[in-house]
Amino acid sequence: MNPQSPIGIFDSGIGGLTVAHAISKAMPNETLVYFGDTAHMPYGDKSKESIRYYAEQITNYLLKNENCKCIVIACNTASAAAYEYLRDAFKNSIPVINVIDPIIEEVIADDQIKRVGIIATKTTIASGIYQEKLTRRKASLEFTALATPLLAPMIEEGFYNDKISHEIIYSYLAQPELQNIDALILGCTHYPLIKEEISAYYQNKVRVIDSTSIVAKKVKMILANEGLLNDHRTANDKYYVSDYTDSFEKTTAVFFGSKIHLELKNIWLAK
Ligand code: DGL
Repeated sequence: MNPQSPIGIFDSGIGGLTVAHAISKAMPNETLVYFGDTAHMPYGDKSKESIRYYAEQITNYLLKNENCKCIVIACNTASAAAYEYLRDAFKNSIPVINVIDPIIEEVIADDQIKRVGIIATKTTIASGIYQEKLTRRKASLEFTALATPLLAPMIEEGFYNDKISHEIIYSYLAQPELQNIDALILGCTHYPLIKEEISAYYQNKVRVIDSTSIVAKKVKMILANEGLLNDHRTANDKYYVSDYTDSFEKTTAVFFGSKIHLELKNIWLAK
């Protein structure tokens, strides 16, 4: 492993391309190997045990077959269910970065935030991880959470900034849990795409926080500290999915900003 080795990024599917895009913008010299576990998505309704199993297999693949120098868990649900497990399992070999801790730092550092809400998948909300990490660090913080399982499939099907997304987003945000908050954490890979609609609902009076650029900054800092930043690009990025369909490939543009080519890599069937 050396500075020229790629950054490994994984997600339950293609939503994590929002994070990959932010990383690639922040560090254009880095090579990315992205793995979207489309064969098992969505993770948002799965058990912690299943997600840990998938996450460990993917991390092993990225480490051993792709020689990645760090692993970014782009998926909020996988970060909630499997981060501590992966960090401990791979602690002597590779830095593992999740999308939750950088958000926790951001919220803790903002003294204007007294009451914070979060929206995310069912599994992320049920894990209670944001509440635990936030209130352990800042006991005075009021915390409120709402699972919003319709949002990820809605966005994946291309419904954002339109009438349908408006209705669904507004009916979730009108729930009692999400009133009188100073900040709202977007705890899912897909939600950066509806950030503006959410800000508009709160008339820009609530700080809406998503993980993309915050996580990219964190990855850059960790690589710099480890002496692993690449100063010149040596290879092309790779974007793998564990199950390929044309529809996945078409949807990449939604999350990455431009269309990218997906390659089938089913690490389970290959065995
Ligand atoms: N990537 C997941 C997350 O960020 C959303 C999609 C899924 O449920 O798999 O939580």
